[in-house]
Amino acid sequence: MELDEAIEKRRSIRGYTKDPVPKELIKELMEAARKAPSATNRQSWRFLIVQDDDMKNRLQEGITQHFVANAPLIIVCCLDRHAFTRQLIEKRVEELIDANVMSREVANMLYQRKLPQKVEETGIPVSAYLDLGIAVEHIVLKATSLGLGSCWVRMFDQERVSEILSLPLEITPVVLLPVGYPAENPSMRPRISMEEIILGFI
Ligand SMILES: Cc1cc2nc3c(=O)[nH]c(=O)nc-3n(C[C@H](O)[C@H](O)[C@H](O)COP(=O)(O)O)c2cc1C
Repeated sequence: MELDEAIEKRRSIRGYTKDPVPKELIKELMEAARKAPSATNRQSWRFLIVQDDDMKNRLQEGITQHFVANAPLIIVCCLDRHAFTRQLIEKRVEELIDANVMSREVANMLYQRKLPQKVEETGIPVSAYLDLGIAVEHIVLKATSLGLGSCWVRMFDQERVSEILSLPLEITPVVLLPVGYPAENPSMRPRISMEEIILGFI
């Protein structure tokens, strides 16, 4: 499927058939995420693939909307705070220098910043949420192109979901993405007009 068609056809899908999502397709979804761009190439996204029915049932406790646990597959999209430590940032930056993407001069400017040495000292930079958002949308569009439906879900109890999944403290779940073969075919949802989104041409 061409990109234009995937953009056109994508909808938030909240009803799925019982058919499981084949392993090869899950791999394709993860490959689409892996190729996403990120600030200083940090790639701080991590994904937990939940297919186990018991685990999905337990997760219901931390999720407001029931359709999520009814999907054959839930991709728990997380950020890993290890990626924001000096050690890993330097690793990524040196790779960019080797790939002729970044100059030593720019790298040195980055290194002068106060970067956390330990994962316990890290916060989550705003740009990391952008990185994760891009990776999630890569998955969403790839899913559409493979005939799968998905829905971004932010309405969930982060703490409860972390507990149920026994996620380590440095892994923060940010988005849940239920994925499955669509059992509905909704038409396009309302959108504001072009005039409203374009502030102007200067
Ligand atoms: C960041 C984000 C968070 C969202 N959270 C939820 C959610 O918690 N539950 C839900 O049912 N839909 C959620 N959605 C889906 C939106 O409701 C949906 O994208 C919007 O209504 C437009 O519909 P469409 O995606 O079919 O075009 C979310 C979408 C985004 C991008």
